[in-house]
Amino acid sequence: MALRVGVIGGGQLARMMIAPAVELGLDMRVLAEAEGMSAQPAATAVGDYRDFETVRAFASEVDVVTFDHEHVPQEVLRALVAEGIAVHPGPDALQFAQDKLDMRARLADLGVPQPDWAAVSDLEGLQAFLDDHGGRAVVKTPRGGYDGKGVRVVRSADEAADWFADTSTGSAVGAGDTPIDALLVEELVPFTRELAQQIARRPSGQMIAYPVVETVQSDGVCAEVFAPAPGAGERLAQIAEDIGRRIAEGLGVTGMLAVELFETDDQRILVNELAMRPHNSGHWSQDGAVTGQFEQHLRAVADLPLGDTAPRARWSAMVNILGGPAEGAFEDRFEAAMSEHPDAKIHTYGKSARPGRKVGHVNASGDDLDDVVYTARAAAAHFA
Ligand SMILES: Nc1ncnc2c1ncn2[C@@H]1O[C@H](COP(=O)(O)OP(=O)(O)OP(=O)(O)O)[C@@H](O)[C@H]1O
Ligand SMILES: [Mg+2]
Repeated sequence: MALRVGVIGGGQLARMMIAPAVELGLDMRVLAEAEGMSAQPAATAVGDYRDFETVRAFASEVDVVTFDHEHVPQEVLRALVAEGIAVHPGPDALQFAQDKLDMRARLADLGVPQPDWAAVSDLEGLQAFLDDHGGRAVVKTPRGGYDGKGVRVVRSADEAADWFADTSTGSAVGAGDTPIDALLVEELVPFTRELAQQIARRPSGQMIAYPVVETVQSDGVCAEVFAPAPGAGERLAQIAEDIGRRIAEGLGVTGMLAVELFETDDQRILVNELAMRPHNSGHWSQDGAVTGQFEQHLRAVADLPLGDTAPRARWSAMVNILGGPAEGAFEDRFEAAMSEHPDAKIHTYGKSARPGRKVGHVNASGDDLDDVVYTARAAAAHFA
């Protein structure tokens, strides 16, 4: 019988696991939040991932449980593990992708380089941090943030007053149902660019790293990725890979791990945050690497031998398609993009277009970085 992989969450990351699951001969099922989500083409159940009975019923019919997002509550995950269900990544690792304060504390224990940070539970604490850091800082809700929601640059403590009000009621922005008692504050890192290091790790311990990539965020949302990171010499590649390996091993991550990094003008590499699943920074690998991240994630969580991560071309670029105010049917635009850029690989998520919403991406690969970036941008621009 085919190995059954259950993916919790029906978004585009689950959707993009479907084709590799078919190729690998895995029986992939999805527990989606609602009907008609991106992962609908897979065998999909609909239910609340926060409800233990719902998740248990789904999990009891598969051999391993994995995720499209990081929001399944710890109690639910721990109860599954207690019943002997294989969960990858497991709750002990996933905790550090779910809670940015826990992550900062754990990375400090591991000695991994990161921005100055503190847990602050009141305005006075935040003001003290600001006073120590040149009057500017980044405040984050520890849980539930995504695409820059729950991240705010502040110049005075008052600018986060609403979030502090919410910490006491347990309804801080994006924090979900769990009350939080502190916010994370970080130094505003004067980064020259953002990078991401991906690494896959199996339950049995095998690890393999992808080349470090450059990511470009716009309004807190990933817009473009260049792989490998342009100008990254051996030294930078090695530093990033070592950080990825230390975290994957130290935290016991299984599946794909993405480490978001800042590069500073004084050559420091600092960890921004972690994701324990396929990640936007790795979409290029679908078409630009021997083994794409979605296949690799499935191999890793199923404890199958990992695939080669070598790039298939000198350069790859990924450009996100964000749903905008564009007029004209998606299909017409899709056809125009395909006809004008046959060398671009266009991926769509089956989502309705709303301003700022990720509805697809374009990958392009080749020998010349400028050409590759041009192709990916030009094809994506059809949808703008
Ligand atoms: N300490 C910092 N200094 C400078 N810029 C920062 C800092 N922390 C975050 N940022 C900027 O804000 C962006 C979003 O922050 P972060 O990655 O923590 O949030 P997120 O909403 O969880 O992200 P994602 O979109 O990856 O889910 C970062 O990619 C970076 O551009
Ligand atoms: Mg981020």
